[in-house]
Amino acid sequence: MKAVIYRKYGKADVLEWATTQVAKPKPTEIQVKVKAMGLNPKDTAARSGKVSILSGFRFPKMIGSDFSGVVVKKGAKVTGLEIGDEVFGYLEHLRGGALAEVLNVNANWVAQKPTKLSHEIAAAIPCAYLTALQGLRDKARLQKGQKLLIWGASGGVGIPTIQLAKHFGAEVHTISSSKNKDFCLEQGADIALGYDEGDFWEEHKGAIYDAFYQVFIHKGSIFKQSKKVLKPTGVHVTLDPIHMLYTALSRIEKGPRHEHVMVKAISQDLALLAQLILDGVLKPHIEKIYQPEQVQEAYTRLDSSHVQGKLVISLT
Ligand SMILES: NC(=O)c1ccc[n+]([C@@H]2O[C@H](COP(=O)([O-])OP(=O)(O)OC[C@H]3O[C@@H](n4cnc5c(N)ncnc54)[C@H](OP(=O)(O)O)[C@@H]3O)[C@@H](O)[C@H]2O)c1
Repeated sequence: MKAVIYRKYGKADVLEWATTQVAKPKPTEIQVKVKAMGLNPKDTAARSGKVSILSGFRFPKMIGSDFSGVVVKKGAKVTGLEIGDEVFGYLEHLRGGALAEVLNVNANWVAQKPTKLSHEIAAAIPCAYLTALQGLRDKARLQKGQKLLIWGASGGVGIPTIQLAKHFGAEVHTISSSKNKDFCLEQGADIALGYDEGDFWEEHKGAIYDAFYQVFIHKGSIFKQSKKVLKPTGVHVTLDPIHMLYTALSRIEKGPRHEHVMVKAISQDLALLAQLILDGVLKPHIEKIYQPEQVQEAYTRLDSSHVQGKLVISLT
């Protein structure tokens, strides 16, 4: 079968389609013929070598975590899924493999794809939408009437975070570039602010927010700044993997909590998110659907960190 691989760490131009082997699925796995895959910054983190301490130096490596497709084989211990079922899911590990004609995946990391959802929409959901849901529900424990601020609101995780927070009954303020303020308002934000418009922390200091969701993490955790705008009972939720110090400090210091999300591929959560899309609560925004031969172009666009919503590669 064909899959996208890379033979060294680097930019998007290290990616190439190549012929590789696919193993028989393990007893707890299904084999999926991939119809579409969704791009995530996690793929870039792995491909660039940023997390090489975890991923090591054995090449070639595969790329991609989000996928939608059709079950073509199943392991002996898999129940509840049959050959021919349409599924979508998330590869929790760092080894990639979703940008391939065929992949093997733990059967617990997928959910049935509703027939009304296209493979392209379904492939856009897993990592970003699970992160939004698990961050708001399990870490922020967001309640009706609370005020939430989202930093990095116009991208993959930001859009479902706006829409889910409105569904939970919160008042939602967003920070994106000023050119994306209208886009955030269209997604449901009550107030949209630009990170390139003055000193946000000084202008807004004074216990305003119940929750602060730090989606943009390229500058590390900004717990110190967020405390200026969080209520003492508030919570800073970050996606930054380097979070331990702040989490430990917030356990012993008075004031806002500090929480970290490590997204999990939970089948029930995937099914819930699909239902919320069918119900019209969540409206996925895909900036562009690429063809397989445009893989380098697609990842170059992702690496700009300025995508509106999601990018998807169609393999149909
Ligand atoms: N811990 C976890 O489990 C987990 C799960 C999912 C994602 N993540 C991480 O979360 C991050 C966001 O993921 P994503 O899929 O939402 O990425 P994305 O689609 O690339 O979105 C990036 C967002 O950051 C904004 N941004 C860019 N420059 C900024 C700046 N200087 N200040 C503030 N915001 C800025 C962009 O807005 P503009 O275009 O308007 O500038 C955009 O809204 C990634 O680093 C990813 O690796 C972690």
